[in-house]
Amino acid sequence: MTEVPFAPALREHLGVPPTGSRPLRLAIIGGGSAYTPGLVEGLLRLEARLPVGRLALMDVDEAKLQTVGGLVGRRLQASGHGMELLLTTCRREALEGADFVLCQIRVGGLAGRSLDEKVALRHRVIGQETTGPGGFAMGLRTIPVMLEVAADAARYAPGAWIINYSNPTGLVANALYRSGYERVLSLCDIPMAMQQGLATLLDIPRREIFLDYAGLNHLACATRVMCRGKDLLPSLTALARSVVASGAKLPVSLADQREEKEFGHILQLMATTGLYCSPYLHYYLHGAEVLDEMLASPTTRADEVMALERELLEAFSGSATGEDLSRHRGYDWHADAMMEVVAAMAGHEGGLHVVNVPNRGNLPSVPLAHMVEVNAVVDQSGAHPLQAPALPPLMRGLVSAVAAYEELAVEAALEGSYHKACLALTAHPLVPSANIARRLCDDYLAAHRDFLPQFRR
Ligand code: G6P
Ligand code: MN
Repeated sequence: MTEVPFAPALREHLGVPPTGSRPLRLAIIGGGSAYTPGLVEGLLRLEARLPVGRLALMDVDEAKLQTVGGLVGRRLQASGHGMELLLTTCRREALEGADFVLCQIRVGGLAGRSLDEKVALRHRVIGQETTGPGGFAMGLRTIPVMLEVAADAARYAPGAWIINYSNPTGLVANALYRSGYERVLSLCDIPMAMQQGLATLLDIPRREIFLDYAGLNHLACATRVMCRGKDLLPSLTALARSVVASGAKLPVSLADQREEKEFGHILQLMATTGLYCSPYLHYYLHGAEVLDEMLASPTTRADEVMALERELLEAFSGSATGEDLSRHRGYDWHADAMMEVVAAMAGHEGGLHVVNVPNRGNLPSVPLAHMVEVNAVVDQSGAHPLQAPALPPLMRGLVSAVAAYEELAVEAALEGSYHKACLALTAHPLVPSANIARRLCDDYLAAHRDFLPQFRR
């Protein structure tokens, strides 16, 4: 296209930045996580669209940082990528000059997660990382630290975007937004996993599937599954119903047992609701069965993940370069879900992504300004949400109840309010009584005392 003669002058006058991007500076807070090698693979896959000049990995756990950072260093060297790698335990050093701050912190570590799960089970309530009381306790610990990260980012990396996928993502997103931090985008890999899962079954590219998706983080569904101009959901539902009714197995083979189990849950959820549900709906719609199974199991998911992490860190400390190792913690789509959003925000063209944004009326069953997980065009200026689909009554009710819980939980976390903490759990659909809610609060506040400064005042 020939350039209109006055365009350069007009662009300059309006302050439209020039095309072509300089190498970016990324900081990963919680960079010692076993997920980091996978993220670096994602960065390398996107090298052409996402030129990175510096990667800073920051972690409070020096030993993990060195192990994971060592592997990342060897991988970068082997790939010939010239990006500078900085390993640090100093948040300020990691943040200074960063364009994007990726957050994947786990306050209290996996030991904290284990307590979250086990305290709930002790009260005969589902013990899960993000859903129910477990997620609530994790939120109380994570929110104060994420507020510090956001304050430091505003100070040492003004203009940077925070990309948060620290859990519980919904609570953290609400807390940051309420505290006035707007250059934050919160993400989860589930929507992309749902899209990728179906694309794999159909053997077509992921982008050829559009999920008309809405809800809250870890409590959402697709009401339409568009593919090549057609909504596949009615036929998929009919298929799911016949598979569930006959107890037959679909003629697909899945990589591991956990995936196969999760796939079974998604089929059941689809048969029940006629929707393509986030697998987290399992905890709400099959709650009694989940609880029985958890109570009968000698271990919780945190125990399994701790064992897996030990194995991975051991493998990372050898001479491996990481191409194969990265796959054991988070699949490719976990990294792609994060890095494709960063690429969209760093580049000049918008892309469609499911992200968490303040409700501007997109979802009428949720209060305005409460965070919702919906499709949005993401570009350099942030996320521009599409109109979300209307949720059917079953989902509308759940989403509305959990949004009320989230509102109270965030207020409890920000204010250090015991009263609101008890109310939050009382409002949660998985907590059967106000007395149990109070006992759960007492036990969590005692168990995590060191990580809950707001409740010690
Ligand atoms: C999914 C969710 C994450 C969650 C993870 C738990 O990826 O989107 O938010 O942290 O599952 O997996 P894990 O292996 O730790 O149980
Ligand atoms: Mn998630």
